[in-house]
Amino acid sequence: MPATIIIGAQWGDEGKGRAVDWLASDADIVARYSGGDNAGHTLYVNSEVFKLHLIPSGILHPQAVCVLGNGMVVNPVNMVKEIDQLSAMGIDVTPERLMLSTRAHIITPAHITLDSVQEKARGDQKLGTTLRGIGPAYLDKIGRKGIRAGKMSDLENYLEALTQAIEQTNEQLRRDGLPLIDLDAHLQPYLEAAERLRPFLADTTVFLNEQLRSNAQVVCEGAQGTLLDVDHGSYPFVTSSSPSVGGALSGLGFGPKYVDRVIGVAKAFSTRVGSGAMPTELEGALAQRLRGTGENFWDEFGTTTGRPRRCGWLDAVILRYACAVNGFTELIITKLDILSGFEELKIAIAYQIHGERSDYPPSTMEELQHAQPIYETLPGWSEDVSGIRRMEDLPKNARAYVERIAELCDTPIYTVSVGPERDQLVHA
Ligand code: GDP
Ligand code: IMO
Ligand code: MG
Repeated sequence: MPATIIIGAQWGDEGKGRAVDWLASDADIVARYSGGDNAGHTLYVNSEVFKLHLIPSGILHPQAVCVLGNGMVVNPVNMVKEIDQLSAMGIDVTPERLMLSTRAHIITPAHITLDSVQEKARGDQKLGTTLRGIGPAYLDKIGRKGIRAGKMSDLENYLEALTQAIEQTNEQLRRDGLPLIDLDAHLQPYLEAAERLRPFLADTTVFLNEQLRSNAQVVCEGAQGTLLDVDHGSYPFVTSSSPSVGGALSGLGFGPKYVDRVIGVAKAFSTRVGSGAMPTELEGALAQRLRGTGENFWDEFGTTTGRPRRCGWLDAVILRYACAVNGFTELIITKLDILSGFEELKIAIAYQIHGERSDYPPSTMEELQHAQPIYETLPGWSEDVSGIRRMEDLPKNARAYVERIAELCDTPIYTVSVGPERDQLVHA
């Protein structure tokens, strides 16, 4: 069966982009199914760093057709910028290789303004969004007043819808005594972007189904992570889409009969950017060591916003839950190299919540805030593992760490990454 779904198993930034880039080497299609340019997927190929926000990570493989699925919310101006940046780096980003679903939703300047206004209004209850307009765009989609990408093929109609959306938001901003959106400043760039993107528009649902029926290999690229899922995540500190397995099917429009693998990507420790409880969060020197200084592009600073990521020990409670929600067939563990040199490592194997032990995260934020991790301590390793390519060559303690993750999650490990380069992977 031809479809493989790649999903973040934590709070995003697990290394999904590099996993997809690797799996895309023999894929016919790579398709994003949820989110928008809140995502930041970093690829490192032949000493060049590529930071992708909207365009799928398969774009560096010339044989792969890339799809932005119906489940996405797309800022058209930023999509054009990304196409131009990649083209300037010598990547072929033509309509033969890239398709935008006519059913995807457009992020308007009104959504971006509302994202900021709503974050400010939350005061110290801020969600810490990426301020890309994601939440307001999905709200309009669910409220049945969004603008779909297909509208860009009828420019007059599209501009009318855009003008109406901005004027309506301006009325609200005026009532609240807030600065208004400059309609004229936005119409021209949106018009130009629509003209540029029109050739990329396609019924990607029909395309994907036809391709899957004829056995094309499709890699579905998740954005964000299971704990940021609006249903399954640490609500309300989540994104507004469904980054988990159900979102892949609804966000691309094909059925489960085509799916044979659902691969979870998990970092060898925990990170989170934005607000919300994170039971294994560390402070001080240990956190800094996991985060890095920011000198290396792989250090824990947001790809989209540059914010330092919160860092902590690996949380197997969260991982076990992500395995359950998504039915992962395998896990890819990333950034094992960062753990070299720690004398000992901790893994949260359960939580203690109000005196009770729990193997799964609670459903409420209040309880998650009170969750005390129950740790297991494992011995560390001092060796540099970045050059290792076979599981049996890993230092004994590194292998034991990885094997323990598989055991705690009852899910096999597919591969372990030990550096950001395409080939820095350890296979079983
Ligand atoms: P994504 O959003 O899930 O695609 O992840 P990001 O790209 O936001 O963050 C992951 C970061 O870790 C990127 O800078 C990757 O280049 C880097 N990375 C991925 N795997 C490894 C690894 O095994 N070791 C190291 N050192 N860096 C890695
Ligand atoms: P990738 O695909 C990490 C977080 C934000 C915030 C919350 C809501 O690179 O893993 P939003 O702008 O979506 O309304 O913000 O979700 N968030 C991410 N965190 N990686 C991401 O994407 C994220 N996309 C959104 O920080 O806490
Ligand atoms: Mg990221």
